[in-house]
Amino acid sequence: MEIIGIDVGFGFTKAYNGKNSVIFKSVIGDATDIQFHSVLGDDSSTSNLHITLDEKSYYLGSYAELQSNIREFTLDQEKLLENYFKILAVTAAGLCTDTPAPIRIVTGLPVGYLKRDTKRLKEITTGVHTITFHHPDGKDIIRKINIEKIHVIPQPIGSIFNLIFDEQGRIIDKVLAGQKLGVVDIGFKTTDFSIFDHLQYIERGSSTMDTGISKCFSVIAGKLKQESNITIELFRMFKFIESGMIKIKGKEYNIGNLKKRVYTHAAAAVVSDLNRLWENDWDIDSIILSGGGSVELADYLVSGIEGNIIPIPKNIDARFNNVQGYCKFGRYKWGYTRHLSEEQGIEEKIAAIKQKNIEGTEEDNKPTRKPETEASVPEKTIKGLSWLRRQS
Ligand SMILES: Nc1ncnc2c1ncn2[C@@H]1O[C@H](COP(=O)(O)OP(=O)(O)OP(=O)(O)O)[C@@H](O)[C@H]1O
Ligand SMILES: [Mg+2]
Repeated sequence: MEIIGIDVGFGFTKAYNGKNSVIFKSVIGDATDIQFHSVLGDDSSTSNLHITLDEKSYYLGSYAELQSNIREFTLDQEKLLENYFKILAVTAAGLCTDTPAPIRIVTGLPVGYLKRDTKRLKEITTGVHTITFHHPDGKDIIRKINIEKIHVIPQPIGSIFNLIFDEQGRIIDKVLAGQKLGVVDIGFKTTDFSIFDHLQYIERGSSTMDTGISKCFSVIAGKLKQESNITIELFRMFKFIESGMIKIKGKEYNIGNLKKRVYTHAAAAVVSDLNRLWENDWDIDSIILSGGGSVELADYLVSGIEGNIIPIPKNIDARFNNVQGYCKFGRYKWGYTRHLSEEQGIEEKIAAIKQKNIEGTEEDNKPTRKPETEASVPEKTIKGLSWLRRQS
């Protein structure tokens, strides 16, 4: 049984199954008939995303941004869940795994919407979905995605699980597991704050604010509109913000300084929300910064937040922290089974050892590890995580 972590963010949809990572912009567009496909473009699995689901065809991600006449993205939770979540999640699952077997999903909601939307999210996503992936060469691949179970947790907790669990769902960082942790997850639309104390989710210090990076993009887009009279859709801003330069109708605008000012302001807003929200939680041991936006704001945040901040590693993409944690938690919750391809690899190795009949002992032929059972997890930890299991 395969477990997939799926994070449908306002900016990006992410999926991870322990082996494959998938990411594409949470942008959906109409599927126009493209007469000619250039063979020179990017050929990765997410650059030509054209799918049909429930008898409707869509372009997704950067393909929609590039090719669709009508492109939609949303910064509204209700709309995301009602109109887009299923399309984005089923596509992400289909890209992440080939399996026709039932799969289990761990996903997240912003902490502020957890109570309201968990049931609806499960209803929307559970079941068998038939999705067609249309490839640019004209080939259609029809897939059945059988989501037998879905477990929903507060989004930022994924980042904590990512640090605490290993890939097989075992607790590897017992020090962190025994601490009071605060997590700040800065995404495209939302900043989620959450507290996890000895593996207990603390509702009181957890909240969702509208201080994601899109606010910064709006301010910069607004200034550019004043100068150029062109309205730039927010999801088109990423590359310009990154380079600090934008060319509109042949005229170049340097947005480097403006970006600095806006980001400093945004970071100050996050810090002041944090100080207010965690005013009584001065005993937090460590603070985890997560989400793609935390990388952008890191320099400004680190100087503003008082406390022990766990540094953001430079070599990872912080947008994946939650989704990797979801997958690891799924393996903790439901047990770890290897992917078929990994199993085949192991069986081949075992067969080779047997054939050579050299040092191959009984011990070598045993699976490397049994699925995690509650018996192998410290009692305190089980107690701590019980709130998570109760929801299934
Ligand atoms: N390589 C990158 N490409 C694009 N954006 C990046 C990249 N690296 C970091 N970012 C930042 O990541 C942010 C998106 O982060 P993330 O994927 O965590 O948000 P999200 O989960 O989609 O949004 P939300 O949590 O509000 O729903 C962007 O706003 C951008 O500032
Ligand atoms: Mg997010």
